[in-house]
Amino acid sequence: MQFLIEKISHHVEEAFASAGYDASYGKVTLSNRPDLCEFQCNGALAAAKQYRCAPMNIASSVVAALENNAVFTSCEAVMPGYLNFTLREDFLAQYLTAMAQTEQFGLPKEENPRTIVVDYGGPNVAKPLHIGHLRSAIIGESIKRLYRYFGNKVIGDIHMGDWGLQMGLIIAEVQERMPSLPYFDPNFAGEYPKDAPFTISQLEEIYPAASAKSKVDEEFARKAHEATRLLQEGEKGHRALWNCIMAVSVADLKKNYANLDVDFDAWLGESDAQPYIEPMMDAVTSRNLVTESEGALVVQVQEETDTKEIPPCILRKSDGATLYATTDLATILQRERDFAPDKILYIVDKRQSLHFEQVFRVARKAELLRPETELEHIGFGTMNGKDGKPFKTREGGVMRLERLIGEITDFVRGKITENQVVTDDEVDETARLIAMAALKYGDLSNQATKDYVFDMDRFAAFEGNTGPYLLYTIVRVKSILGRYGKEAECVIRPATNKEEKNLMLVLSRFAEQLTIAYRQSAPHLICAYLYELSGAVNKFYHETKILAEPDEEKQAGYVALMSLAKNVLEEGIHLLGFTAPEKM
Ligand code: ARG
Repeated sequence: MQFLIEKISHHVEEAFASAGYDASYGKVTLSNRPDLCEFQCNGALAAAKQYRCAPMNIASSVVAALENNAVFTSCEAVMPGYLNFTLREDFLAQYLTAMAQTEQFGLPKEENPRTIVVDYGGPNVAKPLHIGHLRSAIIGESIKRLYRYFGNKVIGDIHMGDWGLQMGLIIAEVQERMPSLPYFDPNFAGEYPKDAPFTISQLEEIYPAASAKSKVDEEFARKAHEATRLLQEGEKGHRALWNCIMAVSVADLKKNYANLDVDFDAWLGESDAQPYIEPMMDAVTSRNLVTESEGALVVQVQEETDTKEIPPCILRKSDGATLYATTDLATILQRERDFAPDKILYIVDKRQSLHFEQVFRVARKAELLRPETELEHIGFGTMNGKDGKPFKTREGGVMRLERLIGEITDFVRGKITENQVVTDDEVDETARLIAMAALKYGDLSNQATKDYVFDMDRFAAFEGNTGPYLLYTIVRVKSILGRYGKEAECVIRPATNKEEKNLMLVLSRFAEQLTIAYRQSAPHLICAYLYELSGAVNKFYHETKILAEPDEEKQAGYVALMSLAKNVLEEGIHLLGFTAPEKM
């Protein structure tokens, strides 16, 4: 479907043309004086310069050309030459009816859908998820859903940190603690045990212990490097133990992400890029891009037009070790071969911007992907505590994601138990849904690049610009629809009061607002729209007696509109990654 604003513009453009002016002056925008009119056009002022006549004359002749039109109840020329419009109720109702009856509310999908890899989540195996990973998961999930909604083929790839020294550290520490395990016996010829020799909580304790030890104990650090080397060379015991670490860790990650309603299409990681390191290095060397610097292999990426210094990208250290950039470049090759994407989008902390700038430049120079393939890093800011510093636990430690979710869920559970609308057996699931809405909306409603302050009281409030407020609005409408008792119609009637018309006008902008959010990869714009829509729904609800309306025809109109509003809101929050309960 065409956006309402385009449809209206079309009529005004025709009026400009028939009055003898260039049609392009007829572009209509939302009114910036909603007290005076709903839409406006400033084209007469611009046209006046070209045609060397008074803008008011042009505006008046456009108004004359619009006489008896089917779109506006009022078209006015006002000094010094503005055009003010108010839409006809029946025209608006027809538009909304078409919207209610069309798939995805008439949203125009991509004409040329693209294949897009979204790299998000990025957890590190055997380390607990902390809130740094939360933003990537929340923003990435929403962007993935948004891209998909527009018809693209989207592959969400978790890109786990599952390789390198962190794995060697764990293996070395396990060896110190349990030296008799068969993984460490080079002569072992049997089958390795099926079950891992540790649980996830043990694993999560092993890594920090090993990491700390390696900093003070040189001998241990050497062992960890040795274990890393053996793993990378494919030594079978080390490989088997690595498989155990992966199995235990991935099972735990799957559980955690499922709790967050975040779901990946590809569970790949840094380890999957290893076979592509050599081909990647070949591509880089064959184009003579590599230089040696103190024994390390680097690629110069500085460009003349740069205003700041971009250091060379290191691909191999003097001891032969590969780095984060090496893996990311190899991953580009792997993605190019497996998915042939038109775009790779990285949802990663903005403090890694330089890294991605270097990686992208090397990828281009080495032609690791087709020149038309887009590479983009969406760098997000930090989630801070009320003190303005990165969010910590009360004791000052790193906040684990599970604990954060637990705390906000308990907080919400307390509130809904007090309200007493939900039965005991629904409390847990309802609290979970509201907590997700609070957490995700609290994050997504800010522009991703900005830091924000995590404030549980504010995020979980049922009133104000919050996730729970959107849920509350949906629940309220669901309750009206339930009490109405009949199936709501899909035919929207012309508005009979101001609040109803305003709600209709807001609804009519759905596809347009979503398209803007999509073009900018900006979930915060979806949030802003849904918040405005919720406000319009509540205002209408407060000012209109829906269930007590004696005129059945009129009532059916109200209900149809409420039903459309609810469907749009539900679809909208789905794109943000959360769902509404039945009651709250
Ligand atoms: N594991 C990394 C970290 O915790 C994030 C990975 C982001 N993705 C990427 N392709 N580098 O910082």
